[in-house]
Amino acid sequence: MAKLSVIGTGYVGLVTGACFAEVGHHVVCVDNDLKKVAMLQAGGIPIYEPGLEEIVRRNVAAGRLRFSGEIAEGVRHAEVVFICVPTPPRPDGSVDLSFVERVTREIAGAIRGYCIVVDKSTVPVKTGEKVAETIRRYNKNGADFDVVSNPEFLREGCAVRDLMKPDRIVIGVSSDRPVGMMKAVYEPFDAPIIVTDIPSAELIKHASNSFLALKISYINALSVICEASGANIEDVAHGMGLDKRIGRAFLNAGLGYGGSCFPKDLSAFIHIAEQLGFDFKLLKEVQAINARQLQRFVKKIQDTLWIVKDKTIGVLGLSFKPDTDDVRHSPAMDVIAALQKEGAKIQVFDPKAMDKAREVLSGVTFCATAYEAATGAEALVICTDWSEFRQLDLEKLRSVMTQPIVLDGRNIFDPATMKRLGFEYISIGR
Ligand code: UGA
Repeated sequence: MAKLSVIGTGYVGLVTGACFAEVGHHVVCVDNDLKKVAMLQAGGIPIYEPGLEEIVRRNVAAGRLRFSGEIAEGVRHAEVVFICVPTPPRPDGSVDLSFVERVTREIAGAIRGYCIVVDKSTVPVKTGEKVAETIRRYNKNGADFDVVSNPEFLREGCAVRDLMKPDRIVIGVSSDRPVGMMKAVYEPFDAPIIVTDIPSAELIKHASNSFLALKISYINALSVICEASGANIEDVAHGMGLDKRIGRAFLNAGLGYGGSCFPKDLSAFIHIAEQLGFDFKLLKEVQAINARQLQRFVKKIQDTLWIVKDKTIGVLGLSFKPDTDDVRHSPAMDVIAALQKEGAKIQVFDPKAMDKAREVLSGVTFCATAYEAATGAEALVICTDWSEFRQLDLEKLRSVMTQPIVLDGRNIFDPATMKRLGFEYISIGR
């Protein structure tokens, strides 16, 4: 099995490192946040990700996975070094590549023999060239190396499953030399492997995420037409999705996409396209539809309640999607901010994201259960489609509310059932 290092223990790095160890590789995960390293060394997991804790525990115990604060130690250990550091957006929508650059310099300074340096962080096309140039410059020992682009397609909330059973593995190279090793690293995962040049690999990532966002904005635009025409968006999505060329996935109308990937990647892709001489108006419209979808939902709440000021509103769901505690760019946060601006009193519940939300929300009441968030509320707003919300006892929910009004931003309930139970129920596109 291979000796690997993963630099950066965020979502991508930690899950990737743990899953590499799970299939038998020997992995050192490196982070410059020494508190995080100490936490991981003590058996703690800094993020909520189903299945991750067991895998980490098992592989640490088996001696295949360890944590370090030193890039040099990671590089000494490894035949292949994976860069998994953040690539945050800059105010103009372009990508801040300074973490990638800094880590690359440190790796270059520590290389002694032939080493494969893999970029897994999401980067604009042509970053690989810069990484190679940087290594050449700072690699004082003149050791041999290859740069590989190997984008990650894991989703938060099912990252372990996505990594263990990927749809595809993309390997971008500029020579044949690293291909055998890269294939050996991924062989245990039993997925189709695409070997291509570095710019194509980099593009596959941005193009895939942008296409998925486009699908979401398309169905959200259709939801507006459904509302205006009396059609039902669920039936439209079902009817479209049965066409194998289209597929039902990512055609769920709702509050729009959020999270740390789609918003950032769209901006980045538009920006790099512009630098390459293409005005990607299509993707700008995808962004605009996404923003309008949220504003339309807030307006529905305002129209329903007439006056929002001083009203108590329960909010269910804070994370940007279910099965994660991540609240970054969460539509729920934007809905809450808009309602707070109008003077509403907000009481919230989320199955996993309460701690992360506490760090960013102020002036809201954090409740222990969904029923508590609904208690005394003039309206209940659903922002995230956690499956446990679908199991709520709706009679009980209605009995604790001041007014039985539910505004569902994720279409998790059946409108006929809600009506039968006496709710005023407003959802998206139906
Ligand atoms: C996304 C991609 O799906 C991954 O393949 C990719 O690796 C990842 O970005 C990344 O670049 O790292 P993620 O951001 O974890 O993964 O979440 P998704 O499951 O894609 O959902 C994104 C957003 O779209 C969520 O806010 C979700 O609620 C929304 N969404 C998704 C919809 O509004 N409708 C849908 O039908 C599907």
